[in-house]
Amino acid sequence: MSSHDPEDSPETRAKIYDAYRAYFDMAEKKRRWNIRTDIPWDKVNTSIEPVIADVVQTFCMVELYLPDYVAKQLPPVRANRGRAWMLANWGYEESKHSLVLEDWLIKSGHRTKKQMAQLADDVLATEWNVLYGTPRAAVIYTMFQELATQLHYRNLRKVADGRDPALDRVLDLVSTDEAAHAHFFRMLVSIYLEDDREATIEAFKHVVNTFRMPADSLLADGRRRVEAVRSLKIFDEQVFIEEVYRPLIHRLGLTRADLKPKKVFATK
Ligand SMILES: [Fe+2]
Ligand SMILES: [Fe+2]
Repeated sequence: MSSHDPEDSPETRAKIYDAYRAYFDMAEKKRRWNIRTDIPWDKVNTSIEPVIADVVQTFCMVELYLPDYVAKQLPPVRANRGRAWMLANWGYEESKHSLVLEDWLIKSGHRTKKQMAQLADDVLATEWNVLYGTPRAAVIYTMFQELATQLHYRNLRKVADGRDPALDRVLDLVSTDEAAHAHFFRMLVSIYLEDDREATIEAFKHVVNTFRMPADSLLADGRRRVEAVRSLKIFDEQVFIEEVYRPLIHRLGLTRADLKPKKVFATK
């Protein structure tokens, strides 16, 4: 396996920059939204089940690690404009997610402003750390995670469906952002495949074998929170295989043969 970073090649950096400009132009044109004016806050439902509010809180907690996501992912790519500007813009978009989820929790009466401040303090007492040490693996992980995150929001929307127009709108807007993130990072993985197919496929296999959502290890009661998400049928292994893994390998043009483990010993 070659050991160069995809960021080393000027052609690869140019492709990433073009992908970022396409992403940014589309976001400016079609996807910007406003927390105060684009949510029907007057229609918030104060009697939706506490279990749904608790899942909203789980998602809000994961979004609250934003300072670590930006602070730890930006320095290694500062000289790669497409990657660095994407992280800045991505950070802006992600920053709205915890804000809008927090606003819904407070306006729906499920949490007080004081509880949310305490929650943020508790969450930020732990640091998120990058899970993968190479740009290839880190980007592949982010691609999986963004698509999985979009499905978490979309499926929570289905569970809560129609009972709280404010929450429906929040989840629509946030899941549309997450879909755009997943799409950008998939474009990046396609560029990495062009840059070095073999190294990218090896990194892909490694990430698939070790994948886990951030809530699991980050949050003090992460196990319980992941279990609640599973029991509401918002996300589980089956959703991961059928709606994350399979569509991604299809769209990246990877085959079963590409993803077979390398034979270390001849069988006969
Ligand atoms: Fe987000
Ligand atoms: Fe995202």
